[in-house]
Amino acid sequence: MPDAPKKLRSAQWFGPADKNGFMYRSWMKNQGIPDHEFDGRPIVGICNTWSELTPCNAHFRKIAEHVKRGISEAGGFPVEFPVFSNGESNLRPTAMLTRNLASMDVEEAIRGNPIDAVVLLTGCDKTTPALLMGAASCDIPAIVVTGGPMLNGKLEGRDIGSGTAVWQLHESLKAGEIGLHQFLAAEGGMSRSAGTCNTMGTASTMACMAEALGTSLPHNAAIPAVDARRYVLAQMSGARAVAMAREGLTLSKILTREAFENAIRVNAAIGGSTNAVIHLKAIAGRIGVELELEDWTRIGRGTPTIVDLMPSGRFLMEEFYYAGGLPAVLRRLGEAGLLPHPDALTVNGHSLWDNVREAPSYNDEVIRPLDRPLMDDGSIRILRGNLSPRGAVLKPSAATPELLQHRGRAVVFEDFDHYKQRIGDESLEVDASSVLVMKNCGPRGYPGMAEVGNMGLPPKLLRQGIKDMVRISDARMSGTAYGTVVLHVAPEAAAGGPLAAVRDGDWIELDCEAGRLHLDISDEELAARLAALAAPAEAVPAAAKARGGYQRLYIDHVLQADEGCDFDFLVGCRGAEVPRHSH
Ligand code: FES
Ligand code: MG
Repeated sequence: MPDAPKKLRSAQWFGPADKNGFMYRSWMKNQGIPDHEFDGRPIVGICNTWSELTPCNAHFRKIAEHVKRGISEAGGFPVEFPVFSNGESNLRPTAMLTRNLASMDVEEAIRGNPIDAVVLLTGCDKTTPALLMGAASCDIPAIVVTGGPMLNGKLEGRDIGSGTAVWQLHESLKAGEIGLHQFLAAEGGMSRSAGTCNTMGTASTMACMAEALGTSLPHNAAIPAVDARRYVLAQMSGARAVAMAREGLTLSKILTREAFENAIRVNAAIGGSTNAVIHLKAIAGRIGVELELEDWTRIGRGTPTIVDLMPSGRFLMEEFYYAGGLPAVLRRLGEAGLLPHPDALTVNGHSLWDNVREAPSYNDEVIRPLDRPLMDDGSIRILRGNLSPRGAVLKPSAATPELLQHRGRAVVFEDFDHYKQRIGDESLEVDASSVLVMKNCGPRGYPGMAEVGNMGLPPKLLRQGIKDMVRISDARMSGTAYGTVVLHVAPEAAAGGPLAAVRDGDWIELDCEAGRLHLDISDEELAARLAALAAPAEAVPAAAKARGGYQRLYIDHVLQADEGCDFDFLVGCRGAEVPRHSH
């Protein structure tokens, strides 16, 4: 057990019997807090991303109430506070633009306030990395409580998955297989309860990552949002946060290099989202752990995907929980020697392995045995070559196996608007072997690196029954999406990356086995084309630059995808030393 801290941070606010102590206590008392609660007990913050504009987190006030019960029960003093809420479904141009903003909010709120430990209420995609990044930069005791996934979506008697159903139904609509009425009828049934996307999209992936990293109690990732056991877990997490404050169990004792290696292995086993590559790098950067793109190859390669969830497989998060949830996956990996660091410490003070060694499995269709996986090697592929000198990623479990080795001619879109204008053009020179290439959708170019990388196929090919094509961009894609999609090309086009030089008709080679992405032109030709392009600073959309405000800060400071898209000035841990008095 780690050494207990000598003195709680909050004592520097509420401890002294002087003018400052008076002021800190007096104003808090206007909330009806009695004298005896200022007796030095741990003050536990509940960092809440509740918002009605983040539907996935709209039930968080109820979750916070249960966390409070746990904190009070364990002898702590709960204080709930709001932070910027990144809602994936409503925020434009993309919730990724404000992930770093939210992380700054979290960091400054924690450090500047009388907080000894913090419970991070996370749900919708970006809320998990944003809160972990902010808390990691402070390095205080922190525990993640996820809001939980929605119940299975329902349409005409069958299950449909969040996001994934939208992509599928939209393709059916464009192919003329269903009508607009049928398409729109799916809206209500797809999102029919509180919670996050019920597929293995980014929210579920990041919830699994938080659990695999050891930052949450077991089962946090999968319990449905409306299942009473979600609220039990919230209460237990609140109680545990009080103990963590007393023990001094700070995030840096949990978020070690070993923890990240466990998470990378788990991502392959669950068929997790490509977004995890960016978010884990950003979290690691905040706590001071070195993580490289090649770690995804070194640690992930050869790991079977055993969780059969959409978009890669058949089921949804409800079945995942009923089948045993992440503990069952961790046990299977551990028993096969595939958990790199079973002894990694978790928030409950036990090792990851101690938490799962007896975890039951109830359904081998949902959580498959290792000898009958969904995919033999489900690890996210890192692709390098003259088109992506600083890397690109592809998720093979969501791709078409026959396209993982492919050579085709580029059909180029200069940006997302150009793609939208051109993709429906019946005279577009494109066939199933073409490679769709989109530029200027990266961190600086969009700005915010929107989830537009899974470009819909040309309608004329959809009508021919074509279901997948190789697509390449500097964008991200939703974790709920699928296809043979190369993402996160770095450097991005707007930062002068070679992607900017691709022209219609160029030959491109994708070799996922070899980890290669190659533009088939000579080095001299590539250099000449890049030299003829505008300087990278000029390539950033002028309108985005001129807008000023936060977007300007973002464009000027965002790092590339291989570096986690954090701001250059936010990388690192700045600790939680108590700032000087405010008065
Ligand atoms: Fe919020 Fe998917 S949109 S979790
Ligand atoms: Mg998503």
